[in-house]
Amino acid sequence: MKERFPEHFLWGASSSAFQIEGGWDEDGKGMSVADYNSFKHSDKQADSKVASDFYHHWREDIALMKELGMKAYRFSLAWTRIIPDGDGEVNQHGIDFYNQVIDELISNGIQPLVTLYHFDLPYALVEKYNGWESRECAFAFERYARICFQAFGDRVKIWQVHNEQNLMIRVNNRMNIYVEDDYQADKMRAQMDYHMFLAHALAVNACHELVKDGKVGPAVSSTCTYPLTNQPMDVWAARMNDNFKTNYCLEMHMNGEYPGYYMRYLKERNIVPQMPKADQEILKKAKIDYIALNYYRTLCASYLPADEKHPIGSRVFRGNEVDFDQYGYCRDEKNENLKASEYGAQIDPMGLRLVLNDYYRRYHLPMIVTENGLGTADVLTEDGHVHDDYRIAYIDAHIDAISDAIEDGVEMMGYCPWSFMDLLSSHQGFKKRYGFVYVNREDHDLKDLRRIKKDSFMWYQKVIKDNGAK
Ligand code: BG6
Repeated sequence: MKERFPEHFLWGASSSAFQIEGGWDEDGKGMSVADYNSFKHSDKQADSKVASDFYHHWREDIALMKELGMKAYRFSLAWTRIIPDGDGEVNQHGIDFYNQVIDELISNGIQPLVTLYHFDLPYALVEKYNGWESRECAFAFERYARICFQAFGDRVKIWQVHNEQNLMIRVNNRMNIYVEDDYQADKMRAQMDYHMFLAHALAVNACHELVKDGKVGPAVSSTCTYPLTNQPMDVWAARMNDNFKTNYCLEMHMNGEYPGYYMRYLKERNIVPQMPKADQEILKKAKIDYIALNYYRTLCASYLPADEKHPIGSRVFRGNEVDFDQYGYCRDEKNENLKASEYGAQIDPMGLRLVLNDYYRRYHLPMIVTENGLGTADVLTEDGHVHDDYRIAYIDAHIDAISDAIEDGVEMMGYCPWSFMDLLSSHQGFKKRYGFVYVNREDHDLKDLRRIKKDSFMWYQKVIKDNGAK
């Protein structure tokens, strides 16, 4: 067997608060935007009220993590459990809950990797000033971050600030962007995005001030876009797709200012946000220590020239997601060379190797994969098994890609696939499952919430035991 991973590689798994915890209003917790959105669709799919009920099963779940051999667990804190209305009183029950979880993890040899904000903005801040539209939100977030660093920073050393800001900002209901007019929506989006960057920088600086030996970074939604053909304009379109979806975000985190192509977009669209000069010092000081990246699929694009149907400034809507296609830059295409999951994600381990090499070449920062996985409608057999060989194949191929990237010279800290256990998928409730552990419930039938190890659990347990050697 060949050793392929460094000795202290962080083999782990991931989750997020509103997707696993449940107990959505217990012990003083406030409602979040994620709760609010999930309640709107409660008739069609599961909501966040019970989710995987981690709030009442955490001891048992952490015992399973230990059995799996996990070295790290990546999860998020619910801002609304700690400060129910976002900027008011601190809820000691929330602090106590996470203290127990963190202590239990550490006593089982599992390092906590903590995300501060995973799509679950306190709803009270939306009511107060439409959330991120207000500069106040950035300071409310800084206060929340400081409270977390002070409460948990003696034990939590690896922090992520926002989960997938670059994706979240394009999803209207996650941001509470409900204006009819496209231009006004884009203007609001640009201002919200900037405030989130400011909040990110404030949190990075606070982490460096308050957490001894702390490491902090963004968790970025990552992909790479292939051009449909080798025509130069298709190559340009693919490049722009990556720039507008991911790179501008990383460049802001790295340099404390927007890159040229992004400023050009903001100016030509006439939506340059208010960015007081004094912020520059905060943004530039906020040096991230590593990059956490979430990777599921790759994309493919062709050039879409502006025409009558797609004039400059027009939008392409996909469900609730808005793309930065304002300049006729690109159109989504199917990549005929790749197989897609049953939910349409184009599966591409080589794409992960490309992304890791690309980021490392540009930023020279260590990286950790904080999400990667296959969402499917798993079947529980009558004798109580889940034979998810398709998930094993997916994860195995992506682990190989990381091993190749390490050989390419990329510095990797760890791998935390999505997800430790089945949880509330952001679009398909409990129909779409990602976990190593099956949670015995359906969208509208809570059954017994029993935890059942899938075949992939036993397989991943061996991968971790062998430190990924092959
Ligand atoms: C990531 C999110 O974008 O994708 C997770 O960080 C999410 O919260 C995951 O669950 C998978 O997406 P979905 O829609 O299949 O749940």
